[in-house]
Amino acid sequence: MKRNLPRLGFVGAGTVATSLACALHGKGYPVVAVASRTYSSAQKLSVFIPCAQAYEDKQQVVDNADIVFITTPDDAIATVAGELKWQTGKYAVHCSGADTSELLEKAASGGAVTGVMHPLQTFAGMEQAKNSLLGITFSLEAREPLLSILKKMASVLGGKSMVIAPEDRALYHASAVMVCNYLVTLVKLSADLWSDFGVTREESVRALAPLIKGTISNLETVGLPGCLSGPISRGDTGTIRKHLAALSQCHADIVSTYADLGLQTIPIALEKGKIDAAMAREIEKIMKNRGNEGSRI
Ligand SMILES: NC(=O)c1ccc[n+]([C@@H]2O[C@H](COP(=O)([O-])OP(=O)(O)OC[C@H]3O[C@@H](n4cnc5c(N)ncnc54)[C@H](OP(=O)(O)O)[C@@H]3O)[C@@H](O)[C@H]2O)c1
Repeated sequence: MKRNLPRLGFVGAGTVATSLACALHGKGYPVVAVASRTYSSAQKLSVFIPCAQAYEDKQQVVDNADIVFITTPDDAIATVAGELKWQTGKYAVHCSGADTSELLEKAASGGAVTGVMHPLQTFAGMEQAKNSLLGITFSLEAREPLLSILKKMASVLGGKSMVIAPEDRALYHASAVMVCNYLVTLVKLSADLWSDFGVTREESVRALAPLIKGTISNLETVGLPGCLSGPISRGDTGTIRKHLAALSQCHADIVSTYADLGLQTIPIALEKGKIDAAMAREIEKIMKNRGNEGSRI
């Protein structure tokens, strides 16, 4: 254990707490106390960290740690902060993406310095959660000296940090939900189409995964707008019409999703420069008419 590092505690022993606690312990931070709604969850987390004590009473976390991460679901954070007795010298931090440090108002009025440390990563389960922090961005909101402490933590974990102002957090988190959760939704919708020609969801996801990974790799290496491929970027209106006709016949419920995302894709294709304004207008017309020839916009 390294000297002069703050003692850490966690209230709420779920996936993010497990990931952060294990990673910070691995970097020498003393994770000393864990509590949760159920004692068994706190015990499960503490098993990974020899110096961590699981407590039934969450007040013990505040009493024994310098920095207390409140890693409950977002809707419980303010209530939990209000149930605890704080004092000057303590730090209270939550990990929500959309919420500001205002949620910890009760901790602040009790004397604690409050802040937000949101890991911009997806944690779907305990096992996967333990190794998900390397290279990620942590969005922070805190006053000094807490801001510097959290910046150092992010850096020690091999991540980057950026300060997101309270008024920008909802937009920031909406972007994370679109890119992460809605990717899952798009994969599910795509797999549904494969079931029409007899391929199971498991098989189709396995087949689609390299395409998704290739797209992500191109985003990282080539960037926007150069990484865009496909019929819109080429101006292949015949292919787009075929898609809309097939979807209208078999999956009318997702025609509007296909067309609306297509409309949002046109400016990227224009920016890439492979289609001109006339072609962009033509594709826009097809998308707005949902592929119905002869209809008017
Ligand atoms: N999951 C992600 O991908 C992700 C990514 C970035 C940020 N975050 C943020 O991280 C925070 C935690 O999310 P998570 O995904 O780790 O949630 P989670 O896996 O559902 O874990 C939440 C934990 O909080 C505990 N809990 C619930 N109510 C409580 C209460 N009143 N008092 C004490 N403990 C309570 C639960 O306890 P029991 O197990 O004892 O019932 C559970 O262990 C949230 O603010 C979330 O927005 C999540």
